[in-house]
Amino acid sequence: PRIALLIGGMSGEHSISCLTAAGVLRNIDTDRFDVLVLGITRGGTWVLVPPDPEALDGGTAKVPTDAPAVTLVRTTDGEVRLIGIEDGTDHGVIDVVFPLLHGPFGEDGTVQGQFEMLGVRYVGSGVFASAAGMDKHFTKVILEQAGLPVGPYVPVTNDEWRTERAAVLTRCEALALPLFVKPARAGSSLGITKVEDFADLPAAIETAHEHDPKVIIEAGVTAREIEVAVLGGRDGTPRVAPVGEVVMDLADGEFYDWETKYFSHNAVTMKAPAVLPEGVAERIADAAARTFQVLECEGLARVDFFYTEDGEILINEINTMPGMTPYSMYPFMWQQTGLSYRDLVTELIELALS
Ligand code: DAL
Ligand code: MG
Repeated sequence: PRIALLIGGMSGEHSISCLTAAGVLRNIDTDRFDVLVLGITRGGTWVLVPPDPEALDGGTAKVPTDAPAVTLVRTTDGEVRLIGIEDGTDHGVIDVVFPLLHGPFGEDGTVQGQFEMLGVRYVGSGVFASAAGMDKHFTKVILEQAGLPVGPYVPVTNDEWRTERAAVLTRCEALALPLFVKPARAGSSLGITKVEDFADLPAAIETAHEHDPKVIIEAGVTAREIEVAVLGGRDGTPRVAPVGEVVMDLADGEFYDWETKYFSHNAVTMKAPAVLPEGVAERIADAAARTFQVLECEGLARVDFFYTEDGEILINEINTMPGMTPYSMYPFMWQQTGLSYRDLVTELIELALS
């Protein structure tokens, strides 16, 4: 089958997508799959990119803007073909799209809607699960409704912030410090501020609002960061890898932010399986599988947890297209089970084809 890796994108995680794409390109089984790379530039133009992993993670980690522009079209025969925009070149049929996109316009249901309209198969979650999983507010609303554990939070729209600021601040004062102020729909910790003093809260909300008209304020918890890799189709119980832990050696006031995630390779260790008290890993794994099912995810997801000092299990968030860079937990956790990166990619594509 012919696979189009869709990479880059219009979100703040464009460069992370390129790193993920390099990882997948190095590992995809080319005896089995015919691979094309489609890039979405930061500006939103779709281009045909040479399938060269070094070009993607060696330099600036961005989709080249001078590559030929292309578009996916559905023909009257019901095929989905890739066509050059300038010269009309027919690059042939695409059987499956693998959207290796993180963040808005990639992981949030928008591009999944485009695939649905075209009638092309794609790896990963559909429109609803992608949209619900991207939105840290609605993820919590759905999980709470299903009886799954989430921490205390306050959502704040731009409008509420303009018209009822005092009431918003009062609601936030009920949360224990430190607070984490987050854009409701961004990834890789972009736009997140840790607030240790209520006086700094308004500025943090403004910063997060630069990324998203909706902000979510969460009570900070003293906790271990536990992550769970989930893999599966729409039906049946999904597979869950033994739970992993992100172990950090950080200075006071730091957290698992953008810098730490991708640049502080000495300060962060990925560990799987995590060493936890009796029964805890099973409860977390079970909550991860339930989260995947309740949100109606497909293909893959990484569910991130806090295991608090008090022994409480809280679901922090879900990533429906988790990073697959060399510093990313998702492929690492599967590797610990004996499932290689290559076999993982094959399995994800086969799930989309099934
Ligand atoms: N949002 C990043 C890519 C992750 O969750 O891995
Ligand atoms: Mg996370």
